[in-house]
Amino acid sequence: MPLEHDIDRILISADEIQQRIRDLAGSINDAYTDEDRPLLVCVLKGAFMFLADLTRHLEMRHEVDFMETSSYGARTESSGVVRILLDLERNIQGRHVLIVEDIVDSGRTLDYVTRNLETRDPASVRVCTLLNKPSRRVIDVALDFVGFEVPDEFVVGYGLDFNEEYRNLPFIGVLKEEIYVESPEGDAR
Ligand code: PRP
Repeated sequence: MPLEHDIDRILISADEIQQRIRDLAGSINDAYTDEDRPLLVCVLKGAFMFLADLTRHLEMRHEVDFMETSSYGARTESSGVVRILLDLERNIQGRHVLIVEDIVDSGRTLDYVTRNLETRDPASVRVCTLLNKPSRRVIDVALDFVGFEVPDEFVVGYGLDFNEEYRNLPFIGVLKEEIYVESPEGDAR
């Protein structure tokens, strides 16, 4: 059965995402120069699709690098332990860093990643997230570039998963409740 059948409704269409990414890229283009040569840090896995589309609209010289985190505990909303599964290849000392996230939910992942990167003495650390879900915030985090605010619903697609599926959908959709309520992996994203 097609993955789309598991979607209750489309929250943000593929066209709306692409248009907003062009706007975000415009703001980021205004914020950095070639001399800044920012390093975009894509927080895997969820942000891979956003990073791929965003970078194509950036006009200043820049680099990309990848970090993978796992937020145990965002699943249960209890422990909130964040682990780094894959670290950056690049040394970021003296570099302008732009963290690229798919979603900021509790804020635990971003808080952890930001603090971790700041210990490495970068020139600056800013944050770009496609989605922001402020209703679920546990830790206050600063966001510099935000694509969309989303309600407290279980959203998937465009990089966001449930049980590692749905990342390939070109839109952001709300997952049908029946898909996640009976699964032990279920969370309330
Ligand atoms: C998701 C998402 C963010 C984080 C946001 O990642 O990509 O990194 O959760 O949640 P938080 O604000 O509550 O920390 P996840 O750990 O599920 O891994 P994934 O990107 O590989 O799906």
